[in-house]
Amino acid sequence: MLARLLRGAAKILLTLAAASSLVLAQTLREEATRAGLLVGAAAAPAHFSEADYARTLSSQFNMLEAENAMKWTATEPEGGVFDFKLGDEVVAFAQAHQMAVRGHNLLWYQHNPSWLVNGHFSPDELSAAMQEHIQRVVEHFAGKVFAWDVVNEAFDDQGRVRSSIWYDQPGIGLAGKGTAYIEKAFRWAHQADPKALLFYNDVDAQGVNAKSDAIYAMVKDFKARGVPLDGVGFQAHLRLDGKGLDTFARNLARFAALGLQIHITELDVGIPIGADGKPLHPADSEKQAQIYRRVAEACAAQPACTAFQTWGFTDKYSWIPGFTHGKLGAALIWDGNYQPKPAFRAVLAAFSRAAADSKTVAERKARSEKR
Ligand code: G3I
Repeated sequence: MLARLLRGAAKILLTLAAASSLVLAQTLREEATRAGLLVGAAAAPAHFSEADYARTLSSQFNMLEAENAMKWTATEPEGGVFDFKLGDEVVAFAQAHQMAVRGHNLLWYQHNPSWLVNGHFSPDELSAAMQEHIQRVVEHFAGKVFAWDVVNEAFDDQGRVRSSIWYDQPGIGLAGKGTAYIEKAFRWAHQADPKALLFYNDVDAQGVNAKSDAIYAMVKDFKARGVPLDGVGFQAHLRLDGKGLDTFARNLARFAALGLQIHITELDVGIPIGADGKPLHPADSEKQAQIYRRVAEACAAQPACTAFQTWGFTDKYSWIPGFTHGKLGAALIWDGNYQPKPAFRAVLAAFSRAAADSKTVAERKARSEKR
């Protein structure tokens, strides 16, 4: 009788252990890997020494991107003076945890160092500075960064090439010539590391709209003329209105048809928060999860979508509250105490479902390997 009871108890314990290891085994990283996807987060080396931060990042993601550490302000703080310390820390963390590194970014109209913005350079001087920067940064990280956002946010919402130091203020000598300066950046990046995948990255382009039309026209032209470009990054900084998601799948499909890779690069979903940083309306966390689900499902269903990345991963560190003066926040999939939110479970479930679709997974893997 006692023996039977003990055997029964042992069986229950084994079943429980198996069930809990099943739950523990379910990380984004594992499910994304099964779905042939890279799943990434933007991160800051300043937080790597925080145990919860490092543990969550390394266990849940197989890709890492520097939120700020590879931008001009960090890598060339003075003209001709290069500093790779922070970028190297990102690479070291990724290598220690077998994560791929996405580079961000080589050229942007915003947040450039003051020596560059206030330097009163001639177009020739700017062109030389741009070429040197791209060459030095890409060469330094060659073999470590597998994909670069070469140019970030070059179009405005009407689809016009944005006025910028690189284009027409005064520009590198190609003012008025549309995307010619962007093409230069891609060619120089390719020279510096022919193996790196080169991406154009933009915000508010997830739907079919004037901006994504302009990006589409540019990348189609680049592909037709052999300009080295491998993919398009859709940032997807979203709100609860899910702007652009109705036409997201259709938009991705037309880029995929050009033979490009697609990365979701900066996903977050800001919701109204109170002074404590927590959601004002508890129901919003579920609505937020639905937005995350829609983005994850659209990416997972599209074989050309090879990476899915969020802009940070814990609400403890997100650019949204600062940017919106405390109105929006709680935008990520772990809360400020590293507890998974409904959005985490929604993304995980979408990846699990995607992993079961072996045809799409096989196509995605083939695309990932192809330049
Ligand atoms: O580290 C300094 C700190 O020492 C200083 O005291 C403080 C005072 O301003 O600034 C700190 O640096 C800030 C940095 O974030 C780190 O927090 C910069 O001022 C601030 O400009 C910088 O903002 C970043 C922003 O890009 C500009 O580079 C955000 O963190 C980053 O999330 C944001 O990321 C962009 C993507 O690159 C492109 N797409 C949009 C996205 C959101 O704006």
